Amino acid sequence: MSAANPIETRDSTPLGTQQWLPFTPNREFLADPKLFASASRQHYYDASGRAILDGSSGLFTTPAGHGRQEIAQAVYDQLLKMDFCAGFTRAHAGSFALAERLAGLLPEPLNHVFFASSGSDAVDTAMKISIAYHRARREPSRTMFVSRERAYHGSNLSGTALSGMVNNRRAFGNPVSGVVHMRHTWLPEQRMQPGQPTVGAELADDLLRLIQLHGAENIAACVVEPVAGSTGTLVPPVGYLDRLRELCTTHGILLVFDEVICGFGRTGESFAAQSFGVTPDIITMAKAITNGAIPMSAVAVSDEIYRTVIDSAVDDGIEFFHGYTWSGHPVACAAALATQDIYANERLFERGRALSPYFLNQLHTLADLPAVFDIRGYGMIAGIEIHPDGKPGQRGHRLQKHLFEQGLHLKATGDTAILAPPLIFEREDVDRMIGLLRDALAALD
Ligand SMILES: Cc1ncc(COP(=O)(O)O)c(C=O)c1O
Repeated sequence: MSAANPIETRDSTPLGTQQWLPFTPNREFLADPKLFASASRQHYYDASGRAILDGSSGLFTTPAGHGRQEIAQAVYDQLLKMDFCAGFTRAHAGSFALAERLAGLLPEPLNHVFFASSGSDAVDTAMKISIAYHRARREPSRTMFVSRERAYHGSNLSGTALSGMVNNRRAFGNPVSGVVHMRHTWLPEQRMQPGQPTVGAELADDLLRLIQLHGAENIAACVVEPVAGSTGTLVPPVGYLDRLRELCTTHGILLVFDEVICGFGRTGESFAAQSFGVTPDIITMAKAITNGAIPMSAVAVSDEIYRTVIDSAVDDGIEFFHGYTWSGHPVACAAALATQDIYANERLFERGRALSPYFLNQLHTLADLPAVFDIRGYGMIAGIEIHPDGKPGQRGHRLQKHLFEQGLHLKATGDTAILAPPLIFEREDVDRMIGLLRDALAALD
């Protein structure tokens, strides 16, 4: 078949409609394509060589900056040594080494890791592990999940059901039953409050209401992002996660932290569980596990979950009928191990923690701009919400496009610009990003 509707981009690369782009207005994109051609450290470049500052670490994926030699070399070496390992009833040493490495970063007692390849897979896996755990404990009625409004847990059907971002849900009806939602954690009193909001901990009692409505004996797990990322950075109120932990423990419900964005230094520690001092039963992670270089995700579970599921099998058979062709892929493991070396050698999480106060203070200097409705942030992730005009999200979309033209890449959701710079950022990079934001926000029509 011939290329349908080839379109000349500004760098003369013909683009066709064969590719269906994810989470993108395809028609608008093809009319005005935004193409990256290369990337190095904290910048992307277009085909003309124009530098675009990466204000979102790609898609929260790349804290160590782009084009890291160490990762490229590890991937190259592994491809030549063993490109693929059949993963069911076979394994390779690299995935064990990585699991051990991750267990060292994770809070106790999360010492066991199941590998998958995307954040969405990790969320699916966490849900299935939760069900398997309760069955092994002879509580098979626990199949429901509690999630939250404005959550994002990926785009598989189960993640779509857990998610609370309306556009991601409404087009698909109710594909997975037994998922109920708590309210989100944003309250008007929190507007422009720097750091963790001091009001709103009581919103965790929504879990108690859902327990009273559905019966704890029917609920498998409560799944939350410690900081809700994709919805535009909602920081948990002081005491909120602690209260969820307490309720889950009291009622035999597993607490799952979806740390696909928060994991690997984004909130100052290895995981947000450590930043907020609350230990869940399960943590999902992806994105920065390989610095974004190779798709990979993982689900960490407690000793108790692992032992319960493994020990419940009656004979030497498979204990958990779940897995992916790409689980523990050797090349992804090599990329992840090289990534973890970079994080440790360059003390990147500490570096992000040290830069965070400056980053957040500078963001708050934008509060005087009339377009700005709210500024929220924690660690090295923040959201700037602007006053909408017309349809919700239209102005945010315009802002994002304009910023790209001006040389700043960031992720926007609705009318919120989400900032999550690489942890290799220097203060000058923060200043440049804030300058570009100030100009773009001031110019918003
Ligand atoms: C918290 C969270 N969970 C799950 C996902 C899904 O990850 P993926 O796009 O790799 O499937 C994302 C993606 O942004 C996420 O932010």
